[in-house]
Amino acid sequence: MAVFASGTGSNFQALVDAFQAGPAQYEGDIVLLVCDKPQAYVVKRAEAAGVPVACFTPKSYLSREQYEEDVLLKLREERIDWIVLAGYMRLVTPVLLSAYGGRMLNIHPSLLPAFPGLNAVKQALDYGVCVTGVTVHLVDEGVDTGQVLAQRVVLVEKNDTEETLAARIHAAEHELYPAAVADVVAGKLSPSRL
Ligand code: GRF
Repeated sequence: MAVFASGTGSNFQALVDAFQAGPAQYEGDIVLLVCDKPQAYVVKRAEAAGVPVACFTPKSYLSREQYEEDVLLKLREERIDWIVLAGYMRLVTPVLLSAYGGRMLNIHPSLLPAFPGLNAVKQALDYGVCVTGVTVHLVDEGVDTGQVLAQRVVLVEKNDTEETLAARIHAAEHELYPAAVADVVAGKLSPSRL
């Protein structure tokens, strides 16, 4: 697997912790971090964990497609079977989708299809919902529109701020994502409409 991330990488860390040293159910290797932000903290996490890093600077390409062609070359070189997005802040184009359709997963901090896109935790609080959560889904060309594979509910508490709710959502992500990725990779959690 290659994990794609742009930020602090707490989900990357949870995935690495599970797949590098977790119980036997975590079959599969995280062999690459793809990062589009060379300064992101996730790069340090990968270095500390001994996971090779491929950093790209998308702005230096003429188009998103050209950037992804380069990423794809790297993925092929490393014989990557699965792409696991974990806070990767870019929309994926048909270049990667046609190569990895059905083999690209994402995690989103809401119960999709509610609150797709940016600031999902704030969206949920602003809307006043009592229940939100996290969703693991297949990636398609839309924004958080791919088929849902797994979800976990997180209750919104009366005095929640964006920070307190985000912290509980992150904790749920760190449990759900490695488990769901392991099940998908092992063929135990199959997308029903593929
Ligand atoms: C997570 O909330 C994830 O759901 C979203 O981006 C965030 C990444 O957080 N896609 P981190 O970088 O893994 O801490």
